[in-house]
Amino acid sequence: MTRVAFAYPGFEAWAAALAPRVGAASGDYTLRRFPDGESYLQVHTPCEGIEAIVVAGLDRPDDKLAPLLLLAATLRDLGAARVGLVAPYLAYMRQDARFKPGEGITSHYFAKLLSAQFDWLVTVDPHLHRTPSLDAIYSIPSQVVHAAPAIAEWVAREVERPLLIGPDSESEQWVGAVAARADAPFRVLEKTRRGDRDVSVRLPPGEDWTGHTPVLVDDIISSGRTLLETIGQLRQLGLPVPVCAAVHGLFADDAWEALRATGARVVTTNTVIHPSNGIDVVPAVAAALNDLLQRQG
Ligand code: R5P
Repeated sequence: MTRVAFAYPGFEAWAAALAPRVGAASGDYTLRRFPDGESYLQVHTPCEGIEAIVVAGLDRPDDKLAPLLLLAATLRDLGAARVGLVAPYLAYMRQDARFKPGEGITSHYFAKLLSAQFDWLVTVDPHLHRTPSLDAIYSIPSQVVHAAPAIAEWVAREVERPLLIGPDSESEQWVGAVAARADAPFRVLEKTRRGDRDVSVRLPPGEDWTGHTPVLVDDIISSGRTLLETIGQLRQLGLPVPVCAAVHGLFADDAWEALRATGARVVTTNTVIHPSNGIDVVPAVAAALNDLLQRQG
């Protein structure tokens, strides 16, 4: 089946890097807003019988969702045999339970919306915490790419005597995998979140970490409060300013400036396009996509 990659606006470089690695041509389409704010779509590439590969990171997803679903529907309507989604960052994974009465479990509803329009999904380290796997909420085949090997390679290359630190129990899956590959020790801290921006962490008492460079590893930097709080605590213990490595750098509001003001070196993968990107996951995503498409036949 002929593969054609369609870049969602802003993901042109991503699609251009990915397409040759998976033998895809570049698709061309127009997406613009009507004066009333609705989306206008026109696909210029012939779609009959193709494997359409839509490349769209889903940070700040609410603005993207309607045009993205409409693009998928248009490609299918024009004859695409399959329409898949490469979402380097998959949004709406953290509200995976009803924590307070009346709350929506939005990760489930978002999964239903995407599953209704796409035939398959490839993404990088979705925030799977209480949800065991994407299959539990997505009804389409999916392939998860792990950024740990690329992060571990970066840490091993860039940091002297690293001590990897996960700020909370949820981060253990990421920090443990990076530590194993970087052949470095790791610790996981205890985090208490009282609100979106009200976070505290506790360090295990009585450990001597002198001589190591702390490397905080997390999957997501959103408000930045988790890392800021951890940096503050490490500094109080007399440890050097840590390096911060994250998979997805969302950097809400002033998070980027606040983290930079601590003097910490902050690096992210390019799942969310940002000046902190220093770790390329395109090759890993391409390998996963090739696997998935082979499985699909
Ligand atoms: C928590 O569940 C995640 O692994 C991250 O620690 C969290 O999303 C970071 O959020 P923030 O930057 O807002 O503290």
